[in-house]
Amino acid sequence: MRSIRIIGGKKLFGTVEVSGSKNAALPILFSTIITRGISVIRRVPDIGDVRVAISILESLGASVIRIGDTLTVDTRSLHYRDPSPTLTSAIRASTYLLGASLSRFGLCRISSVGGCSFSDRPIDMHLYATLAFGGVREGDLISCSKLSGCELDFSIKSVGATINSIIMAASAKGKTVIRGHASEPHIESLIDFLVSAGALISFSEREIIVEGRELHGGDVTVIGDMIEAGSYLAAGLITGGEVTVTGCDVSHLSAFNRAVSMLGASVTAKKSSVTVHSEGRYSFIRVTAAPYPAFPTDLQPIIAPLMARGAGGEIFDTVWTSRYGYLASLTPFGLSYSLKDGYATVNRSDLNAGETRATDLRGGMSALLCALAADGESVIHGAEIIMRGYERPELKLRSLGATVFLE
Ligand code: EPZ
Repeated sequence: MRSIRIIGGKKLFGTVEVSGSKNAALPILFSTIITRGISVIRRVPDIGDVRVAISILESLGASVIRIGDTLTVDTRSLHYRDPSPTLTSAIRASTYLLGASLSRFGLCRISSVGGCSFSDRPIDMHLYATLAFGGVREGDLISCSKLSGCELDFSIKSVGATINSIIMAASAKGKTVIRGHASEPHIESLIDFLVSAGALISFSEREIIVEGRELHGGDVTVIGDMIEAGSYLAAGLITGGEVTVTGCDVSHLSAFNRAVSMLGASVTAKKSSVTVHSEGRYSFIRVTAAPYPAFPTDLQPIIAPLMARGAGGEIFDTVWTSRYGYLASLTPFGLSYSLKDGYATVNRSDLNAGETRATDLRGGMSALLCALAADGESVIHGAEIIMRGYERPELKLRSLGATVFLE
């Protein structure tokens, strides 16, 4: 287990270029399974979850070469293998194997899927989609010699089930219409990749229409990571400094920018950068996390320390209704909160240095933010959980003036 040691209390100043989005890179990587060719995927973050995804692809016979942040993935000769539970249980994105493997090999096995365990994370919608495309389930195996296009109407907006459905539809026989789909920017990023690989997909708020095709290799640049962007903006704000993030579509940050403006930050959003600094006056704010374009659930653990440092706030997460477990890991930093009726109330708190363990990816970053704000030395154990989704955070924070060591 690795730890991050922080000497906090320093104002952070400067510019951070965000990496490619984790949640866009992972579906693109898994979707190469349905292509027969060589794909070039640029701006792929070198993070724990991506390394696991690459190992899964390699176990199926793919050749994956990384040069800088560009991956070349050759999926011309793949063979079916039951996924290694050690690998699939390490990342949530292994659910994309359901659609990709069924599509390419006519077979997939429902095995343990991993990822952050902040809530129950059902896969019933993914399974419903595999069966709608013609899959037949026997025990934990689903098989189908050739998937057929279908109509899907989801009653809950699920990023993962939408992605799996697009992956299956892209090379299924005939036309698929998906309604009730999620609209997160990483879904459009996946579509960009598949279209570059020969897919025929149209996306609108109302429906996604896909005409199945044989796919060749594709070429795409992964979008910038909006959650990483929000995290470094929060680091600037919580330390009373001024941080600019670049490399991310500013419109993806609209809900976050609105929330921190209400909290009291000055936010300057330009064409390709966002700069924030604290005005020193804070307001109590209420944040409701919901599917895009609303405030993202993955940024609610990031805004909680800002609420504590400011005038307090209230969080209601409609996506992961119990995603508040990380708050207990912030109490060593003096953060006080209460939970009632599905709401988390974060009280105005004087943050002190502390020692804690990362509960999950965003919960770990939340602890890191508390540590950056507090005077003195703090330690966060389980740093690899943070590195699953953040590329070299210690270097990016040091470039802003933070004293951070990865041990
Ligand atoms: C993706 O998870 C992200 N993970 C999560 O990122 C993110 O929190 C989440 O989307 C919401 O934005 C990846 O992209 C790898 P969902 P996913 O299916 O796809 C319910 C991070 O910190 N649901 O959109 O697993 C579910 O319970 C993380 O980077 C079902 O009921 O999320 C939830 O309430 C962690 N049945 C809602 O849908 C299903 O079969 C949304 O979940 C699937 C989902």
